[in-house]
Amino acid sequence: MAVAIAPVLQGRGLGKIFGQHHALDQVDIDLWPGEVHALLGENGAGKSTLIKILTGAHSADAGEVLLEGRPVTFRDPLQAQEHGIGTVYQEVNLVPNLSVAENLFLGHQPTRWGFVQKRAIAERARRVLATYGLDIDVKAELGSYSVAVQQIVAIARAVELSGKVLVLDEPTASLDRAEVDRLFDVIRSLKARGLAILFITHFLDQVFAISDRVTILRNGRLVKSQPLTTLSRTDVVRMMLGKDIVFAQPATLLDQTETGPVLVSFKGIGKAGRVAPFTLDLCRGEVVGVAGLLGSGRTEMARLMFGVDVADEGSVHLESKALSLRNPAHAVAAGFGFCPEDRKADGIFGDLSVRENIIIALQAKLGWLRALSRDEQDEISGRFAEALDIRAASHDMPVRLLSGGNQQKVILARWLAIDPSLLILDEPTRGIDVGAHAEIVRTINRLREDGLALLVISSELDEVVAYSSRVVVMRDREMVAELTGQDISPAVIVQAIAAQEGAA
Ligand SMILES: Nc1ncnc2c1ncn2[C@@H]1O[C@H](COP(=O)(O)OP(=O)(O)OP(=O)(O)O)[C@@H](O)[C@H]1O
Ligand SMILES: [Mg+2]
Repeated sequence: MAVAIAPVLQGRGLGKIFGQHHALDQVDIDLWPGEVHALLGENGAGKSTLIKILTGAHSADAGEVLLEGRPVTFRDPLQAQEHGIGTVYQEVNLVPNLSVAENLFLGHQPTRWGFVQKRAIAERARRVLATYGLDIDVKAELGSYSVAVQQIVAIARAVELSGKVLVLDEPTASLDRAEVDRLFDVIRSLKARGLAILFITHFLDQVFAISDRVTILRNGRLVKSQPLTTLSRTDVVRMMLGKDIVFAQPATLLDQTETGPVLVSFKGIGKAGRVAPFTLDLCRGEVVGVAGLLGSGRTEMARLMFGVDVADEGSVHLESKALSLRNPAHAVAAGFGFCPEDRKADGIFGDLSVRENIIIALQAKLGWLRALSRDEQDEISGRFAEALDIRAASHDMPVRLLSGGNQQKVILARWLAIDPSLLILDEPTRGIDVGAHAEIVRTINRLREDGLALLVISSELDEVVAYSSRVVVMRDREMVAELTGQDISPAVIVQAIAAQEGAA
């Protein structure tokens, strides 16, 4: 392969101002052919804004973008695509009610599809998705598939469009380990073909597994751009945060084995086709971790516990009294909170303000006749924003204008505000930066000490081990193990998750 003598895509002195806020200030970045370049920084550091400017989704207020050495101004992402730049934005912008195949080739297909073309396109879609280990009905609506599948379709689509540059904003946030490995294989082959890949993630392991170079932003400014081989993890974290962080170590945590009385008991609840009947007691002052692969039934279990889906058998008791959970309002009235996995679809009300998003569950719980005054609203949203370090220029701004990680913290704040007795968290640290990550783990422990019952679904086993007093393992939509004491270790959990594989 010829040695590249110039970057394929460059940003020079890029700046972006939203209102009074400098989201990006004097940032330079170079992307070289054949490199995987990680873009790192805290929630709100300006990562998404930078890639939006590089790929035509935003215009810059200062500086310039150069493609193969020549200044360019992309009108929109479509024009960037025409120049060989494929992008997956943090907010997936596919069309849920078009088919998988249509989404995959949206924008680069003939406007009118004949029958033959449709068949050919479906065939091609199947071949493309097979590279990612996905064997699905490509004629079905995209919206009928899980977030993970939608994410893979978005990635596959960007890869198809990227002749020179592939840009991925947190592509792995909803993928499991096997899917991440497949994505990395695809990235390596694109790299070998000489593409430049720009990749945003909050998973440092992934940064070290695949990147050649890193660019680190802090508060909209460039901290450093350099080869990864010269950096340690501690260096990277320090540059992102501007300080060192202390990770919660299991040994430093309080005794997790002493729990309070049973708060809720789920007895034999299940839903045909979704999750097999399971029985689980949740105690006050206890965290129950839920482990399992994507699609193992973890999320379905949480949805039954919160009345999003209705169980077709079994019973629920709250402090020994029978409880009917036919919809989420029943759950909220019983003091349950639920922070869902797919926050974009199920959680955030994009056009409502940060304040409204935080108080909405509390308001619903109080009833709309007892409207919270503006002062009460400000006090509540201010208090939780501070506790969770939510960075928003103003609590009046629409929440969709916050960075992805800060939106997630808003949803967590919403459920903490109702002062729940049971809190169900589905992947609470996805998309959250390393600093805030440690903060959320500490928050979970604090809530447990305050006497809440928590059910936490997480793919991050080190975390699960750090806060759980029990771990239930889901496999093939069934609860297959309940681990306690010494058995709460990543090795035992992995074994329980995988148990079936050797046997089959
Ligand atoms: N359209 C907009 N209007 C107003 N402010 C915005 C807009 N887009 C982004 N911002 C602000 O600019 C800052 C940078 O946001 P950006 O989305 O680039 O962060 P990020 O580094 O991608 O964070 P995350 O890791 O949470 O995704 C944030 O403070 C955000 O609230
Ligand atoms: Mg972002």
